[in-house]
Amino acid sequence: MKAHLLSAADLTRDDALLVLDTAQELAQIADRPIKKLPTLRGRTVVNLFYEDSTRTRISFEAAAKRLSADVINFSAKGSSVSKGESLKDTALTLEAMGADAVVIRHSASGAPHRLATSGWIRGSVVNAGDGTHEHPTQALLDAYTIREHLAGGAGDLAGRRVTIVGDVLHSRVARSNVHLLHTLGAQVTLVAPPTLLPVGVEQWPCDVSYSIDAPLPQTDAVMMLRVQAERMDSAFFPSAREYSRRYGLDARRMAALPEHAIVMHPGPMNRGMEIGSDVADSERSVIVEQVTNGVSVRMAVLYLLLGGAPLVADEEESA
Ligand code: CP
Repeated sequence: MKAHLLSAADLTRDDALLVLDTAQELAQIADRPIKKLPTLRGRTVVNLFYEDSTRTRISFEAAAKRLSADVINFSAKGSSVSKGESLKDTALTLEAMGADAVVIRHSASGAPHRLATSGWIRGSVVNAGDGTHEHPTQALLDAYTIREHLAGGAGDLAGRRVTIVGDVLHSRVARSNVHLLHTLGAQVTLVAPPTLLPVGVEQWPCDVSYSIDAPLPQTDAVMMLRVQAERMDSAFFPSAREYSRRYGLDARRMAALPEHAIVMHPGPMNRGMEIGSDVADSERSVIVEQVTNGVSVRMAVLYLLLGGAPLVADEEESA
């Protein structure tokens, strides 16, 4: 793997499988009475969040702590960013505190890349979501979840059919998933109204459909995307009701999926809009499992980027 994780497109098939296999090994720690390994003892992980987050921020914190790293949580709200401090000066401050890894979420696409290539910090940079660009650890945890359910928890996702539905235009989750799932051999179909597809989507390694109903009977995993109202500066669809009618996953549409198919959502959900509450809470939904898997996957990413002590030795030491 490279020194940073900025984009799912940077991951080779071997890189991605290494992360998934390592995450699977690390997931076993969650079943122990003491959910901790000493592998990153003495290392410092900074969570630098310029945008709101529940799942990603908490799971990176849990992941770093389970590997015994010291964790500094930085939220732009309540910090000197509100006094106008730049990303550069914030980064230099973190460097002065000895950050070994910086996990960054930012509203500006490219902010993690800037941090990684500026020379302001020496540690590894992990993209925890930048604007509408990428969210690579979300894609990794999604691939992990699909692999557990549809590929026996091993190998790649060759031949699996994944349908991603909704606000692709504003979704960093969709972009990262298309790259990673393609790398792992899956066939991806994006479904959205024409107004919610990005320019150039025809160059992405996936199919595109304006109809949700067409691909569902051949789908192994359907991933519903949040309608990101906060990033919409104009009317992209007539009304919430119309959007839900045309693109929402309700019980009737879920019944069109093959019996083995799973329902996913990266969260946070707009219940009743892109996904019905009954669908989100159904037996087919793996949405809560995605959150659980996020901790193991982020442990694996931190472990691999920071070159932690061998896992076998860790297990012996912590036994
Ligand atoms: N999926 C995801 O990124 O959720 P949060 O915004 O809560 O981190």
